[in-house]
Amino acid sequence: MEENLKELIAKAIHEIDLSLNLKELEKLRVKYLGKKGLITDLKKNIAKLPKEEKPQAGKLINQASVKIEEALEDKTKAIREKLLEEKIEEEKIDVTAHFDRKTSGHLALINQTLEDLEAIFQNMGFDVVEGPEIDTVKNVFDDLNSPADHPARSTSDTFYITHNVLLRPHTSSMQIRVMNEGKLPIKMVSAGRVFRNDEVDATHSPMFHQLECLVVDENVSMANLKATLETFIKEMFGDDIKLRYRPHHFPFTEPSLEVDATCPICKGKGCPACGNTGWSMELLGGGMVHPNVLEACGIDSEKYTGFAFGLGVDRIAMVKYGLDDIRLLYDNDKRFLEQF
Ligand code: PHE
Repeated sequence: MEENLKELIAKAIHEIDLSLNLKELEKLRVKYLGKKGLITDLKKNIAKLPKEEKPQAGKLINQASVKIEEALEDKTKAIREKLLEEKIEEEKIDVTAHFDRKTSGHLALINQTLEDLEAIFQNMGFDVVEGPEIDTVKNVFDDLNSPADHPARSTSDTFYITHNVLLRPHTSSMQIRVMNEGKLPIKMVSAGRVFRNDEVDATHSPMFHQLECLVVDENVSMANLKATLETFIKEMFGDDIKLRYRPHHFPFTEPSLEVDATCPICKGKGCPACGNTGWSMELLGGGMVHPNVLEACGIDSEKYTGFAFGLGVDRIAMVKYGLDDIRLLYDNDKRFLEQF
């Protein structure tokens, strides 16, 4: 009997070893230890043995049962571990697997344009200055020679935070801030966001961007303003683009002008985009710094003169990239952004 049992155990362990999955193992458990299993049968047969053999036989059969059970347990554990490993392997994310260089982003068009503009002016020897989007009525209007009844001061045009503090409606407040630092000569640009109580349409947004330019020195003339603008516009758009100067009025410059560029689409010939005029919308306002502004900042207007202009950065971007709607710059539509 002992020999038979040993063989049975060896056979069972061998079969357990060969089994590949939990289902096969379960079958083997039934085969040996189940209700009608081989070991269970042996246990039942103990009753038929002579009395003196019973204890020994019982002991051997129990041992065999324990051994087979242990083998089943070990194998079950091994198969479970293997399954888990396979699952982990399957679910592991390979972060390098689908790396696609083309999907890396780029600066928004407005920031790209701001960087281009600043680089051009830096190359022309200008300082790039940063300033606050929230400023005082004194810096935004009073010291810029704006009369008390100037329409831009009204709350229907400008966003006030308190009576004396507001979201700047133009970057010209940076002229005052830089002049008040008291260092001469001045040759600076300062770009950033400005805010106006405007309805949104194809060419207007309540938040947009300007770049302010200010030069103050002895003997600065309108010719310097013109030369600076022509150099800048060539750098930005190439030789094809021409500028048109129109007289205008700003409280802080005298004389004042507005400047348009030839339509970037038809290059001045006239097309639907420019309403057949050949000219793009106005790009900037500027002029010679009003003596009252220089004096408000403690600068001797008999000795010093200056020019200033404020560029619409969004409009520069629209001309540069041929856009017919300012909202494209702010919508964050990937189909649009991916074209640049
Ligand atoms: N601040 C003016 C505007 O926002 C532009 C400007 C700047 C005009 C500097 C003259 C000088 O329209």
